[in-house]
Amino acid sequence: MSPSDVDTGELREIAVTIARLAGELIASRAHEHLRADAKTSPTDAVTDVDRASEALIVSLLAEMRPGDGVLGEEGAHKVSETGLRWIVDPLDGTVNYLYGIGAYAVSIGAELDGKPVAGAVFDASRGIMYDAALGLGARRDGAPLGCSGVQALEMALVGTGFGYRAETRAAQGKRVADLLPNVRDIRRIGSAALDLCAVAAGSLDGYYERGIHPWDRAAGLLIAAEAGARTFVIREADGRELTVAAPPAIFEALLAAVR
Ligand code: IPD
Ligand code: CA
Repeated sequence: MSPSDVDTGELREIAVTIARLAGELIASRAHEHLRADAKTSPTDAVTDVDRASEALIVSLLAEMRPGDGVLGEEGAHKVSETGLRWIVDPLDGTVNYLYGIGAYAVSIGAELDGKPVAGAVFDASRGIMYDAALGLGARRDGAPLGCSGVQALEMALVGTGFGYRAETRAAQGKRVADLLPNVRDIRRIGSAALDLCAVAAGSLDGYYERGIHPWDRAAGLLIAAEAGARTFVIREADGRELTVAAPPAIFEALLAAVR
């Protein structure tokens, strides 16, 4: 199957519908005193809400798209019978969520034979929907999005993030220290999905991060690309993947600065 064989607009609407329902669930439970369990390190948290959100998304996908595959951050794994697979982050920005900081999202991307074709990111505390379909552009609450017109890296506001392991962070800290004198400033928002939507909306000029996972970026990368950004994911020698998104005018400079 190729992207022209599927209705990417319909897949986008499915992602939007499910992301909104899951986002309403997580926002409605944001004031609970949640117990966090540790995942890859003591600071990498997962809560009952992450799991409940993923369960809701998986059950809705099973109803609406029974033969499709699913990959979810909290363990959902279903092999596709159709070539279509949904990549799900049920709560991106879990640490913000735990601390009552309103930058957390539900991210749902659809890929066809590994190629991103549709996606939605729901900024759950603000009730803002970002979406995209391959070739149909990116939108925020239905209005078209375009990335920023920044022309020089020195003027760019760049988002990034850090992994949960201390040794990963030590290396990331050195890289960001080298970048900092060469950009307008750095932001660490705490949700890779929202960082990528911010690039799409021009509220960040660029974004890079090492070590994020397919579920963090599946929808957001397509949203950024459909808004005109250049996007790039590469596996580096240590096995970690570097993800970069930026407007064409600064893309090469940002990539060179962070590699
Ligand atoms: C994290 C966020 C964060 C990024 C981390 C991710 P989570 O996802 O996207 O911004 O820096 O690399 O793991 O744990 O909140 O789902
Ligand atoms: Ca995540």
